[in-house]
Amino acid sequence: MIEDTSTRIDVCPAAELTAGETRLFEAPDGAKIGVFNCDGSLYAIEDRCSHDDGPLAEGEFDASTCTVECPRHGSLFDLTSGRPKTLPAYQPVQTYPVTIEDDIVKLEVP
Ligand code: FES
Repeated sequence: MIEDTSTRIDVCPAAELTAGETRLFEAPDGAKIGVFNCDGSLYAIEDRCSHDDGPLAEGEFDASTCTVECPRHGSLFDLTSGRPKTLPAYQPVQTYPVTIEDDIVKLEVP
């Protein structure tokens, strides 16, 4: 049997994260995570670029393509998969499941 060791944490009321909005969140272990609302679907990625540790989740967010651009060297990341679409980054970043329960945005962290 596989044990589920992940933890669900509250991020914010769903009403505060409407389409096109983004929020930076700090997990209990200190990891920074960006949560994005791409036209109604929620995605979360770590706030650390796989190229050179840039503050990825603080880059320019495009809700229509569901991408964020690393502010350090400009790699464009697909928020749905965590994969970079352009160089110089070539490795994916960590993604986290996001759900809404009782009108609260919740993040699942390992
Ligand atoms: S640190 Fe993100 S592209 Fe270089």
